[in-house]
Amino acid sequence: MISYIPEKKVFKLDTKNSSYIIAIFQEGYLINDYYGAYIPDTDISALRRRNRSASFSPSNAAIGEGAFTPDTAPMEYSTNGAGDMRISALAVRNKDGNTVTDVRYKSHRIFAGAPDISPLPHIYTNNDNEADTLEIVTADPYTGLEATLYYTVFKELDAVIRCVKLTNSGDAPLDIERAFSACVDLPSMDYDLITLWGRHVKERQEQRRPLAHGLQGIHSKRGVSSHAQNPFAALISAGGNEEYGNAYGFNLVYSGNFDISAEVDHNATTRIIAGINPDDFCWHLDVGESFQTPQCVQVFSANGLGEMSRTFHRLYSNNLIRGRYKTEKRPLLINSWEAAYFDFDTDKLTAFGEHAKELGIEMLVMDDGWFAKRNDDTNSLGDWYVNEKKLPGGLGVLVDRIHALGLKFGIWYEPEMISPDSDLYRAHPDWCVHVPGRVPSISRHQYVLDVSREDVRDNIFGQMSSVLSKYKIDYLKWDFNRNISEAGSALLPPERSKEFFHRFILGTYDLMDRFTKAFPDILFENCSGGGGRFDPGMLYFSPQIWTSDNTDPIERLPIQFGTSYCYPASSMGAHVSANPRTGYKTKAAVALWGTGGFELDPVKLNEEERATVRQSVADYHRYYDLIRSGDLYRLINPLNDPYRCAWAFVSADKAQALLTVVTMRKSENTLFFLKMKGLCPEKYYKCSLDGGVYSGALLMNGGIDLSEACPDDGDSVIVEFGEV
Ligand code: DGJ
Repeated sequence: MISYIPEKKVFKLDTKNSSYIIAIFQEGYLINDYYGAYIPDTDISALRRRNRSASFSPSNAAIGEGAFTPDTAPMEYSTNGAGDMRISALAVRNKDGNTVTDVRYKSHRIFAGAPDISPLPHIYTNNDNEADTLEIVTADPYTGLEATLYYTVFKELDAVIRCVKLTNSGDAPLDIERAFSACVDLPSMDYDLITLWGRHVKERQEQRRPLAHGLQGIHSKRGVSSHAQNPFAALISAGGNEEYGNAYGFNLVYSGNFDISAEVDHNATTRIIAGINPDDFCWHLDVGESFQTPQCVQVFSANGLGEMSRTFHRLYSNNLIRGRYKTEKRPLLINSWEAAYFDFDTDKLTAFGEHAKELGIEMLVMDDGWFAKRNDDTNSLGDWYVNEKKLPGGLGVLVDRIHALGLKFGIWYEPEMISPDSDLYRAHPDWCVHVPGRVPSISRHQYVLDVSREDVRDNIFGQMSSVLSKYKIDYLKWDFNRNISEAGSALLPPERSKEFFHRFILGTYDLMDRFTKAFPDILFENCSGGGGRFDPGMLYFSPQIWTSDNTDPIERLPIQFGTSYCYPASSMGAHVSANPRTGYKTKAAVALWGTGGFELDPVKLNEEERATVRQSVADYHRYYDLIRSGDLYRLINPLNDPYRCAWAFVSADKAQALLTVVTMRKSENTLFFLKMKGLCPEKYYKCSLDGGVYSGALLMNGGIDLSEACPDDGDSVIVEFGEV
């Protein structure tokens, strides 16, 4: 609920359990009086604590020396060069050549629902009652720049969604040098910063560090959100954990270069900003033009990180993921990659399909290697026609055979890439991302296609859609296997060259939008060498994302834990592979967390393995609804415990729960009781492990004895609790 209290000039943005309070201060400065657990008060002047000048902090002359300085006030949207010396959210170069930027309150309106900021992906409402939006127009009278701040506030979810639209209402062009989506000023530095670092095959590893004076943060300059850092950060009260402490989560709905920076200033207050990375960014704004920033999702929890994550999960499941497969059950798939790599033909894939069908698998996905002359990764990206040496008679023969088995059929593409050894590159060498006078760097033998260009997008859409509309394709894995260097487009004039990275992302989104609209029945799975583009922007177009190329079940644990900080189980592609680290039982228990599949040669499985795989297929169906619509509780973090990892899903009505425990390393301590979380203390549950009936109170306070259940390296157990 959003209210404006005119006599106090205060905006109160209340969710069920949180309040976010903005005041219009003297001279139109917007300041943030409070962000945290819900407070009912409408007079919050007692909290206006930090506006007065400190030595060396410049005062606003109209208010009077020493009366107000933007340098210490909690500024709602900090600007550059006008008295606030901390990191700024907004810096715009004007016709005089300087970047002094100073926007003040002009007007506001409150409306039901959420703004549609297409073509950027965004949080949407299913009906206008779910959320309200506050729009505050701020303006810089000298330059004519208008910054319109948007806040969408969900009633039932403790989330505030923010973005900013910049409009040049002046009489001379402007250049945007920094345009962050969100800025939050907190009154202390007593927080730890949690971020998710990673690399290929080691994505989204939790990193926790206490805030320190000065700057700290994460960014991507890779052209994509990247393996290296996810566009997510959380601040948690020092000493806080899954259940305790104030947690503030920030996640950008953006797939390109980003920056999330925190600064602790000389007064030990904390500013955090999140948005497009200002490095290699500048946007020219002619008179009358607008620029829209991506959204930042802000989530608050007074009960630690667990509740913060569950809020993200609910929001993304209901208000970000779209299309048929938002609600429809996702097919359990088998992917050819780890089983065959580039070495397959129609008969081999048909045999995979026959064995997969017999195991209860529902879809066959033909991965990389089906097109042009591609038998390894050195060529053919951009030439999206079938290789008839591998698939004699064309794709239709294979698709028909797989469908005749009663399986769905999926295909792999890497639309934004081009091999130097391809017909497309030979015809259009200027279609790859490049800058004049430099040889583009090569990575995995490929260049990046310049999808900021409409003609390039038209070509790729044309090639791919002729395949997708000719055959009955049920699923598309959309891959992206390098980062972007020598970033530039042949069509961009030099003065706009720093617009390239953002234009590239807008082009990517346009291409994805065209495909999802033209082929609404196809299930899209995003991928970037595993989870190199695992971000909310991609989730808007593809309801599931391949989490990692690492299918080792033990190494997967921290990856899935980290991913779960903000992304729901339904979004995590998690497959059982032939990886020998553990048996199939544990591989299946780990993969059960996400959207399921197999990366193995089903023909080679022995009878015992087949039985375990069949059991995992049955478990997938049995627990599908619980895992997708239930609440996640992270119980033992694999990065904090040398021996075990554990998590649980609990249904919304708390009538059913599923606990998974994996032993990473045998513990010398043979006694192991695990305390459940999230159950109803008054309810009684039947435990599938021993058939006993126990109260939720006992299971959560006393725990369940798992000493014998999974004692050895690589063992695992799944335990179901059902209300009796
Ligand atoms: C990277 C992906 O993560 C893999 O699953 C596979 O699709 C390969 N690309 C194919 O080249």
